[in-house]
Amino acid sequence: MMTPLIEFRNVYKIYPMGDTEVHAIDGISMQVQKGEFLAIVGQSGSGKSTCMNIIGCLDVPTSGQYLLDGKDVSHMNDDEQAEIRNKKLGFIFQQYNLIPKLTVQQNVELPLLYAGLSEREQAERALASLERVGLRDKAKNFPNQLSGGQQQRVSIARALAGNPSIILADEPTGALDSKTGKEVLQFLKKLHKEGNTIVLITHDNTIAAQAERVIRVHDGRVVYDGESDISKFATVTYAGDDEEGDV
Ligand SMILES: Nc1ncnc2c1ncn2[C@@H]1O[C@H](COP(=O)(O)OP(=O)(O)OP(=O)(O)O)[C@@H](O)[C@H]1O
Ligand SMILES: [Mg+2]
Repeated sequence: MMTPLIEFRNVYKIYPMGDTEVHAIDGISMQVQKGEFLAIVGQSGSGKSTCMNIIGCLDVPTSGQYLLDGKDVSHMNDDEQAEIRNKKLGFIFQQYNLIPKLTVQQNVELPLLYAGLSEREQAERALASLERVGLRDKAKNFPNQLSGGQQQRVSIARALAGNPSIILADEPTGALDSKTGKEVLQFLKKLHKEGNTIVLITHDNTIAAQAERVIRVHDGRVVYDGESDISKFATVTYAGDDEEGDV
């Protein structure tokens, strides 16, 4: 069997809250293979961002294991996490997170700078990445000179520049009008067809339905894991084979 690119083994993320505790992730096990296009969907507070932070090595589980490409990354320190992020992960956020004082090209170069590439390599890769999102001609512009959709494409170019194993997108269309949002989704589909592994986080069922596979979370648990047929996943709030036991 192929080693999964992402594997959660009974992952918990628990926050102490006074006398009680919040189970932001309440025992999630799942696997994602290389080349999949997965959407993690759920309502507000269901645990999506917590999941994304763990997948993206921005946080570690309270208990359980996270294996990234077969390697247990559940207990890394900040430096180790940062190194894995640079090598393996590309992030796309709702608010683009572009740095206003840097040009478009410099924004795309930033993760490559952190990764220790030479200036020439940074420039070559950044421009190639901007070419892929159709924005090479905007390389010398500043983010505020671009439309929202263009800024999101710059953030996609930045995510792609380091040639990551996984592209993680948290509500990537959240700040965009529906037409521009559709374009961004089309672009993610194109990246998937080219062989990229994509994990898309969203609260919106119709957006999740664009992925190839859907995991639905509710109260920190997986309540659906399967095909992206909206009639199957949109309303599930408990796992069918959970708790009651097999009859
Ligand atoms: N640092 C924290 N301390 C305490 N509780 C937290 C913390 N982070 C998240 N939580 C709680 O964990 C649960 C899951 O939060 P999370 O941010 O993962 O939800 P979400 O699905 O991303 O929601 P949204 O769609 O609103 O972004 C929520 O009940 C939240 O209040
Ligand atoms: Mg969230």
